[in-house]
Amino acid sequence: MAGYSEQKLLAVNGGDGDYSYSRNSLYQRQAINVVKDKINEGIMEKFDVQKLSSSSNTIRIADMGCATGPNTFMAMQNLVDVLKQKYKSQLSPTDDNPQCMEPEFQVFFNDCASNDFNTLFTSLPHEKPYFAAGVPGSFHGQLFPESSLHLAYSSIALHWLSEVPKELADPSSKAWNRGRVHYTSAPSEVVEAYRAQFTEDLGRFLDARAKELVSGGMVVVIMPGIPEGMPHHRLPAGIMADLMASSFLDMVKD
Ligand SMILES: C[S@@+](CC[C@H](N)C(=O)[O-])C[C@H]1O[C@@H](n2cnc3c(N)ncnc32)[C@H](O)[C@@H]1O
Repeated sequence: MAGYSEQKLLAVNGGDGDYSYSRNSLYQRQAINVVKDKINEGIMEKFDVQKLSSSSNTIRIADMGCATGPNTFMAMQNLVDVLKQKYKSQLSPTDDNPQCMEPEFQVFFNDCASNDFNTLFTSLPHEKPYFAAGVPGSFHGQLFPESSLHLAYSSIALHWLSEVPKELADPSSKAWNRGRVHYTSAPSEVVEAYRAQFTEDLGRFLDARAKELVSGGMVVVIMPGIPEGMPHHRLPAGIMADLMASSFLDMVKD
């Protein structure tokens, strides 16, 4: 099977304690809510539920970078709700489905193998409108058989790079990122090294999804962006990265 090394990937904090991802992911949940209407619009306009479910009466969805929940449960519930709504709006008997049977839904929860899947599985909603399965592995490689998925979804996960660009830790490189943990407030060579890594990673992600998706399938990606022309150090995430770098430096000095 086509694989992609994920040895260097760090997972979010597992469990449901004070410092767990599941209790510290309100920002990510808000991002899902902000774009919900846009996603619904796109599905209502472009996703042909009746056609895509005609061969097996099943719609297969994957959440790539799902973490430990609960945001993913809300996102998957939203997707299934709107897909059902779309199906009802298309309702007409076909040769394959003369009774207009509503399709069944299968959701694959994907994250790196070190993700706390136990917390995810034990907190799955009791009344969920889909069959659930976990899929460990990097979304930078192929995770599913060819033409097997109908909808690939990823929220606030694609900006995680597969690895730290090597130049950043190389003192002989112009992109040596000494004293920083990010490209905020860094020379252009550092920004370029991050950009090159992201371009490569995004290409791998899209190549893999192109193989896995059926014709007419859909990719939904939610990720942070930067307004054109806005300096990185003026963004909240940039300010946070600068503060973290200065705290780390203080800790090293102590
Ligand atoms: C900030 S969390 C977002 C989780 C969830 N989508 C949400 O909205 O709450 C990013 C997740 O992406 C996962 N991730 C990062 N890189 C990944 C990769 N290459 N393959 C699979 N999962 C990855 C991380 O392990 C983490 O759980």
